[in-house]
Amino acid sequence: MPQIKTKKTGLVRVGLGKRSYDIAIHPGGLTQLGQYLKDLGFSGKVGIITNPVLEGLYGRTVEQSLKRAGFQSHMISIPDGERTKTLRWVAHILDQLMEQRFERQSVLVALGGGVIGDLTGFVASVYLRGIPFVQVATTLVAQVDSSVGGKTGVNHPLGKNMIGAFYQPSLVLLDTQTLGTLPTREWIAGLAEVIKYGMIADRNFFTFLENRMDDIVGMEQSALHHVVKRCCEIKASVVAKDERESGLRRILNYGHTIGHALESLGKYKKYIHGEAVGIGMVWEADLSQTLGLCSKQVVTRQRDLVKRAGLPTELPTVTFRDLWAAMLHDKKVAQGLVYCVLPKAIGKVTVDPLDQKAVKSWFNQLGKNRT
Ligand code: NAD
Ligand code: GLY
Repeated sequence: MPQIKTKKTGLVRVGLGKRSYDIAIHPGGLTQLGQYLKDLGFSGKVGIITNPVLEGLYGRTVEQSLKRAGFQSHMISIPDGERTKTLRWVAHILDQLMEQRFERQSVLVALGGGVIGDLTGFVASVYLRGIPFVQVATTLVAQVDSSVGGKTGVNHPLGKNMIGAFYQPSLVLLDTQTLGTLPTREWIAGLAEVIKYGMIADRNFFTFLENRMDDIVGMEQSALHHVVKRCCEIKASVVAKDERESGLRRILNYGHTIGHALESLGKYKKYIHGEAVGIGMVWEADLSQTLGLCSKQVVTRQRDLVKRAGLPTELPTVTFRDLWAAMLHDKKVAQGLVYCVLPKAIGKVTVDPLDQKAVKSWFNQLGKNRT
């Protein structure tokens, strides 16, 4: 895939041979989307997949940018929310692409957060056995995580993200200005994924987050730019080494073993994803300390940072039985073993199978030590 020609403010390359692509971190870049597509050599019809919230906020800007660059575009707007991440909505979008005679040369643009990105990527992977797509990510979760790395897919009634494909985009365009319209709760939830990168891969970045968390929460532009760029660099480097999650990529699931369990126990209503990941990281670090893998200081520094980001940290009232049962449904379970990402230090993690008895013993003594 060709590289972006125009010099942009922040460019991160995802190195995957012929499937390599750029992540352009470009405040205001939405107005340049058409030019980006032109730079990449696209000339066909463009399908913009979005929802009514994003269509209202940014639809016109995107359409005008595409028009200026000579593209014909067609907007497909589906209802907002996780409930559209299903095969039913995949079929709906495919119907529209067929009716509008989209071809192999056409391109799809995912304009939205992780829901739109995962769904659009999956549609792109199956329409005509694969057409190109571009991620224009508009939430913090999507800008630092879901738009990069090619995990696409939808949910099944029996499990989240169970149907999908590894299918890389041709470009990821991150206009950090779009984060300004995010609901506060969504914005804060994304910070859990940001802290995750410091914990799994970069202690200097973690220290940066400690020093600048107040600026980041307040969306100070240079701090925000650094955050998005560094997270993308880390994710790009992990994905380049292990695209299909046969090993290293599992570290990106830090906080997700307990986090996913809490999301599912809360029936996906009590917590949004980032909030559950924040709590998951706090308690997976606590478990790691109990297992003798990391120091108390690691647990305390991380919990303080999660709190300062405005995220919840407390484990809700759950029984061990329910928690363990929910953890057993995690995608990382292999041959009945629950694999968990456990910190060894700030910036260093290990992925280990959990011993049920040891986790139960840790859980039982939490009542005494919980603060
Ligand atoms: P989301 O896509 O549901 O977006 C959250 C809400 O914010 C929605 O209501 C959306 O309409 C709104 N929104 C988005 N951008 C906005 C903006 N700029 N201004 C105002 N409102 C805006 O949620 P999300 O957290 O971005 O993504 C969660 C999804 O991502 C889940 O389905 C999860 O499974 C998936 N995910 C995928 C990966 C991956 O690697 N593919 C990684 C993490 C999460
Ligand atoms: N969000 C985890 C991954 O992309 O692997």
